Amino acid sequence: MSGSVHPAAQVDSGSLDPDFVAKTVEIAREAGARLREFFREGVETEYKGDADLVTVADRTAEKLIRMRLSEAFPGHGIYGEEGTRDRLEGEYRWYVDPLDGTTNFAHGFPQFCVSLGLEHRPPGTAPDRDGTLEAGVVYDPMRDELFTARRGQGAELNGKPIRVSRASQLAEALLATGFPSRKRHLSPNIHFYHEFTLRSHGVRRAGSAALDLAYVAAGRVDAFWEFNLNPWDTAAGILLVTEAGGKVTDFAGQPYRLESREILASNGGIHAELVHLFAEMFAGRALAPIPAPPDYVRQLSGDKGS
Ligand code: IPD
Ligand code: CA
Ligand code: CA
Repeated sequence: MSGSVHPAAQVDSGSLDPDFVAKTVEIAREAGARLREFFREGVETEYKGDADLVTVADRTAEKLIRMRLSEAFPGHGIYGEEGTRDRLEGEYRWYVDPLDGTTNFAHGFPQFCVSLGLEHRPPGTAPDRDGTLEAGVVYDPMRDELFTARRGQGAELNGKPIRVSRASQLAEALLATGFPSRKRHLSPNIHFYHEFTLRSHGVRRAGSAALDLAYVAAGRVDAFWEFNLNPWDTAAGILLVTEAGGKVTDFAGQPYRLESREILASNGGIHAELVHLFAEMFAGRALAPIPAPPDYVRQLSGDKGS
């Protein structure tokens, strides 16, 4: 991050060291370098359940990040995907996804990242209330792309300011989404994937929610939605999007909370249209029929006969 410290951020960030983002970037880069080594060597895949994969790389990176964050910010809490639950009563809390995009990683598909998001929870914050997101760092080690955001100071990619796109209608938008790796049969997202595909330039499903959010911030996609995410997937990316001028809510357009699970992030310009479409679809309207495979085959043989 570059530039001077925003006065509001300085007052509100309490005991935060002014260089804490630089330190966080160093930690994300070190973890990313480790992931890059594992990726080149290849790793065994284990199952956490269903199609939910985990590897030695996830665990090693979380261990490293936990150690480095604890050294750098001894009083801060850490909430990590691979089980870290340290000092959660503290005023500051890091949400850590040591490897977002594990399925990609395990298959040699080079789209994954390290995601570190910092929440400030001033004393007295009720357990069921969010604090304020202070910083977000998402590092893609394969492209050496570092996305950073500091509350009140904008978002950057490799040190240069980024902004969300200017698209003003869904019909001219490129979108992104993801699908859960647990209880996949319960997810209705394929309907949304279908409908949004028909109404936009297309929907990408690249396999890393934190990078999807970073791409909204950088204007590479105009919006991203997903069911069933966790705070370690979203904390850093939310701040990237909002600091880059975008909007983050739940599917009903209500303020997003870290426990919301359902996330809709956009450039702001197409947000209302997306929220309207979600409402229509949840009410059973605006659903174009999907041709069933037998119908497709029948239609093909009909075409040949004619
Ligand atoms: C997953 C990725 C993926 C999303 C899944 C997440 P993981 O995280 O972000 O894009 O669709 O819902 O669980 O398991 O690779 O850290
Ligand atoms: Ca994740
Ligand atoms: Ca992960």
